[in-house]
Amino acid sequence: MRVGVLTGGGDCPGLNAVLRAIVRKGERHHGDVIIGFSDGWRGVMDHEYTELTVENMRGALTRGGTILGTTRINPYMYDDGVERVRATAADLALDAMIVIGGEGTLSCGMRIWQEGVLNVVGVPKTIDNDIGATEMTFGFATAVDIATEAIDRLHTTAESHDRVMVVEVMGRHVGHIAVWAGIAGGATLTLIPEEPFDIEQVAAAISRRHEHGRYASVVVVAEGAVPKAGTLELPEPEIDQYGHQRLGGIANVVAQEIERRTGYETRVTVLGHVQRGGSPSPFDRLLCSRYGVGAIDAVHDEAWGQMVALQCNHIVTVPIAEAVASLKIVDAELWAQAKTFFS
Ligand code: F6P
Repeated sequence: MRVGVLTGGGDCPGLNAVLRAIVRKGERHHGDVIIGFSDGWRGVMDHEYTELTVENMRGALTRGGTILGTTRINPYMYDDGVERVRATAADLALDAMIVIGGEGTLSCGMRIWQEGVLNVVGVPKTIDNDIGATEMTFGFATAVDIATEAIDRLHTTAESHDRVMVVEVMGRHVGHIAVWAGIAGGATLTLIPEEPFDIEQVAAAISRRHEHGRYASVVVVAEGAVPKAGTLELPEPEIDQYGHQRLGGIANVVAQEIERRTGYETRVTVLGHVQRGGSPSPFDRLLCSRYGVGAIDAVHDEAWGQMVALQCNHIVTVPIAEAVASLKIVDAELWAQAKTFFS
């Protein structure tokens, strides 16, 4: 078969490992030709591509970013976008497209398939881990490792100086990274978008802890955390060219308020894109390899409109429609357990 592949949306560790696995299984086992498009859907519309082979994918397993490049551009942003996708598919005699992306890229892939433009199979990518119908997206585990290491390091400097450290992690709408890294790093408190926080209670918890002779608190804040209505004013976020809020910086407001209300010296660390860069963790290398193999096998099973997913440690396929129907929020049971550790 002739199979296209693209990476769309924000990058994350493991994209190249997925590509490598698709090429390995596709070329060696199925005898496929794999065509990699530049910059997500943009490359499909603009006919920009390169053939991916086992030979030219050497070294890709551990390499961060995406060798194909990525953008948030999609064909529905242009009057002739879908026709350009159709023309490229016909010109290259594509049998299918593997779409590696988050909610936006997958939703677009689903629509392209539903409208009969191309056969599509999806792979769930995002460090935020907010795609439904799968227990884990790739990139998430690496981000948790990076955030946990940062919390560990902040603990030691916090102890030396007897300070409160506020560390901001990614998580636009959900707090998966914050909760996992918060538990793993032994955070004092973790603030997530799923449960609006009261800054007065945050400050009181830190004061209580310090009054008991425990010092050096580390507070983890997801970038998308929200204060309870009327308790704290946040600056209006900028909107990017795709209509997304550009988050980042809530930790500064939280830290300022903690210092003002408790009198404890407070510092801020915003981890930002450090969580998205660099080599995937061993767990993600394995997950990406399994997702890539699962995706090319799904193409040969003609599982159109489906996405590979991790369920009970098996790689399965699920309808993309189900995966993008609603954001996967932090599991209530995990959050209840997490509260045991967050004073
Ligand atoms: O969706 C993944 C994500 O990393 C979010 O956590 C974050 O808000 C956003 O992407 C940042 O996007 P950009 O790279 O466009 O700043």
